[in-house]
Amino acid sequence: MHIAIGCDHGGFELKKAIVPLIEQAGHTIVDLGCFSEESVDYPEFADRVCTAIGDGRCERGILICGTGIGMSIAANRYRHIRAALCHEAFTARMSREHNDANVLCLGARILGSALAQDIVRVWLATEFAGGRHLRRIEMMG
Ligand code: RB5
Repeated sequence: MHIAIGCDHGGFELKKAIVPLIEQAGHTIVDLGCFSEESVDYPEFADRVCTAIGDGRCERGILICGTGIGMSIAANRYRHIRAALCHEAFTARMSREHNDANVLCLGARILGSALAQDIVRVWLATEFAGGRHLRRIEMMG
């Protein structure tokens, strides 16, 4: 898959820790910034990632900020996005199986890099279960 990744200054260090894992899993990273710890505004990077999914450049996206909250609020404003803020692997798996989440949001000030890597590994590997869950997603338009 092509995976769009974006972060703000709060997520920059964690982004560096998860990019190699995603590439090792055989995916192509489209890194849409930011590229330093200089202060930036998270909605801009949420927009870049959500747009890359909307125009077909990427199948899924990962957004990282300090808490993951701002990124998840911003991403879920886009009609084609189902963004899930996950702090452990169980919700990451369920966000794929039941919600077909196409964006994973992470809080860099909450997660250690090993836990974040675990979440990303599970989220990338889990397929949508479909069936009754598809009906529910379709109800949201
Ligand atoms: C930036 O200081 C911080 O507000 C941002 O990374 C994020 O946590 C917002 O939700």
